[in-house]
Amino acid sequence: MSDFTDEILADNNQIRGVKLKVISFVNMKGGVAKTTLSVNFADCLSRRHDLKVLLVDVDPQFNATQCLVNGEDYKTKCKEKRHTIVDIFDDSPRPIVGSVDGVAVREPVDVENIVPWRINDLLFLLPGALELHLVDMAPGQGKEHKLKLYTDHLRKNDNYDVVVIDTPPTPSAWMSAALIASDFYIVPLKPEPLSATGIDLLKSVIKKRKKNYGLKLQCAGVVLAIAEENTIVFQDAIRFIDNNEFWKGKRISRHLPKRTIVARKQGEQGLILDINDKKLKLSITSITNEIVKRIGLKD
Ligand SMILES: Nc1ncnc2c1ncn2[C@@H]1O[C@H](COP(=O)(O)OP(=O)(O)OP(=O)(O)O)[C@@H](O)[C@H]1O
Ligand SMILES: [Mg+2]
Repeated sequence: MSDFTDEILADNNQIRGVKLKVISFVNMKGGVAKTTLSVNFADCLSRRHDLKVLLVDVDPQFNATQCLVNGEDYKTKCKEKRHTIVDIFDDSPRPIVGSVDGVAVREPVDVENIVPWRINDLLFLLPGALELHLVDMAPGQGKEHKLKLYTDHLRKNDNYDVVVIDTPPTPSAWMSAALIASDFYIVPLKPEPLSATGIDLLKSVIKKRKKNYGLKLQCAGVVLAIAEENTIVFQDAIRFIDNNEFWKGKRISRHLPKRTIVARKQGEQGLILDINDKKLKLSITSITNEIVKRIGLKD
């Protein structure tokens, strides 16, 4: 993406017409396309549906951020002390990792003052950061509620239509924070022999979080991704979801096919809508449309 004009929330007070929906992409399993789908879903919502979208990267690997911002721009913005996800969770002054002399200190920021980065007209990013690893997330401090404080603030100020959250593949405090802040979750699933085990583990983790935190979180869909249609594992995955008591009815009808170009383009901040492959574009557009309908974003 080319235009990284700094964000000025000029339309802070504009009435946006739809109530903010917060959606997390989750799976306990790594490498199933959580990041790929969350980034491209967010992009597709903004470009095809004219919705104002904030993508929040709560994964310390910060791959979603790398899919949208190149390394140089990222370093420049960090030097300018632009906000990152660390500002949500960290409430103590801390040295900025990578600062030239190693002594720059970042002061804690109130959630009302956190300003995401503008990626394009309607797409914004609260980027991830490696330092997220260093933030003390020990239980008992209530830090897993801080992302919800932020999304509640966005909701109150009518800033965005949708917040999309990319999560790490571990049942961590960051994942809890994402679920607590979310109205919906989406499960990307890569068809492979052990995928049923992963998704069952996810089911129990989500059930536990819903009970412990009293969440009203709903599943907005299971998306088969990095899928090879003509394989037995693909057919098995479909059968498993469609027949499973908990997941049946949740499968999004279109899947994201496996294409090496998706992975290759991510290295240069390429998005699926910009790849010259009709089937891929149709796939992300249909997946997005179906989720939009399921969560009642549009009639
Ligand atoms: N449709 C696709 N075809 C081929 N490769 C893909 C496709 N979608 C994603 N990939 C690649 O598969 C790998 C895993 O994807 P991605 O990073 O989105 O998964 P993830 O679930 O977010 O992983 P993690 O658990 O590590 O966060 C990446 O290298 C990505 O570039
Ligand atoms: Mg990821």
